[in-house]
Amino acid sequence: MSHLFEVYPLYDIEPVKAHGSYLWDKNGVEYLDLYGGHAVISVGHCHPDYVARLTQQLSAISFYSNSVQIPLQEELAQKLGKLSGYPDYKLFLCNSGAEANENALKLASFHTGRTKVVSFTKSFHGRTAGAVAVTDNPSIVAPVNYKEHVHFLPFNDVEALETGITDEVAAVIVEGIQGVGGIQVCTTEFLQALRRRCDETGAVLILDSVQCGYGRTGKFFSHQFSGIAPDMMTMAKGMGNGFPIAGVLISPKFKASFGLLGTTFGGNHLACSAGIAVLDIIKNEGLIENAAKMGDYLFEGIRKLGGYKDLRGRGLMIGIEFEFPVKEFRNKLLFEHKIFTGVAGAHTLRLLPSLALSQKEADLFLAAYADCLKAFHQPALKEA
Ligand SMILES: Cc1ncc(COP(=O)(O)O)c(C=O)c1O
Repeated sequence: MSHLFEVYPLYDIEPVKAHGSYLWDKNGVEYLDLYGGHAVISVGHCHPDYVARLTQQLSAISFYSNSVQIPLQEELAQKLGKLSGYPDYKLFLCNSGAEANENALKLASFHTGRTKVVSFTKSFHGRTAGAVAVTDNPSIVAPVNYKEHVHFLPFNDVEALETGITDEVAAVIVEGIQGVGGIQVCTTEFLQALRRRCDETGAVLILDSVQCGYGRTGKFFSHQFSGIAPDMMTMAKGMGNGFPIAGVLISPKFKASFGLLGTTFGGNHLACSAGIAVLDIIKNEGLIENAAKMGDYLFEGIRKLGGYKDLRGRGLMIGIEFEFPVKEFRNKLLFEHKIFTGVAGAHTLRLLPSLALSQKEADLFLAAYADCLKAFHQPALKEA
C-alpha cells in the first residue's frame, strides 16, 4: 500500500541507471529517452563533467544561505548572460519554473504598481498561486488561487492585443512555444506585436522560457527567432539537467532593492554548480547547434514518414498531432520499442530529448515511429 499522496499516474518502470540519452530499469532493460523527464535532461543523463562538478562541490560545501558571498552565483549569471545573448540582464535564482514565474509577476507588479496580468489560451505557467492563476486550465486552479486580475487573450491573435493590453496591465506572460498546450509556436508577427503593445502601455513582457528555453529550439531562447527582447525571461527545467534550479533574467531597467525578492534555497552552491556545468557543456559541445541540426533531421524524417495531422515546434521541441488519441501509440513506443516520449493533450505526441541527441538515436526513433504508424493504420508516405 502506497503512503504517497497519489497525484501521478505511474508507469510500472523503475529506472535505476542513466547515461546520455539512455535509461536502464531495475531489470536491466534499456530505454531510449526522447522525453528527458519532461525537458529537464538538457546535456544528457549523468554527463561525466556534470557528475564530476557536482561531486566535487558536494564534498567542498553544498549549502549556505544568501547572506554570504557565493561567487558561483556570479559565475553562473555571467556565463548565462553571455551564452544567452543577454549580458546586461541581471539574474535572480530560485528553485522551480513556477517559482520563477511567480517572482517575475511579482517584480512586474512592484515595478508598475499595477495589478492586472494578461495571459493566453492554452498557457501553462506552473502550479503555485500566482503561476496557476495565469495558467489556462480551470481544473488545476483552486478557489484560493485568486485570478480576478487575470485576463486570457487568444494565443497568436495579433488583433486581440490592441484592446486586451491596456495601461492597467502590469505584465503579459507568454511561452515562446507552448509546451503543455501542445507545442504551439508563437509567430514572429505575434511576438513583435506583443513587444510593441507592451511598449505602448508600459506593461512588462515576460517570456516563460521554462520549457522552450535553454537551447532546446536551436537558439538559447525560442523568442530569439523573432528578434524581440523581453523585459524578463523565466527558466528552469534544462538549467540544472535534473538538479532543481530556476532563474529570472531581468532587464537592466528594473531596480533591485534589498528584500524585494528572496529565497532560502535559490542559488545554493550545489544548484549553481549544476547550472555552471550545464552551461559549460552546452558551450563546449556545441549543443545548441546540435539541437538545431538534430531538430531539422527529425522534422525532415517525420515529414517523410507522414501519418500525422500536424507537425509543430522548433529544434528538439517537437509536437506530432494525430487524428486519433495518442495514448496507445505512446505506449507502443514505450513498451515495444523501449522509447520514452511524452504527450500534450489527447492527440499530440511530444518529443523533448536531450540537446545531445545523436543521429543514430534519432534514426532509432524514426524507425519505431514508422513501425507504430503501421499499427495505427496510418500508412507511411515513404520508407524511412
Ligand atoms: C512553460 C512552463 N512554465 C512553467 C512550468 C512549471 O515549472 P515547474 O514544474 O518547475 O514549477 C512548466 C512545467 O512544465 C512549463 O512547461
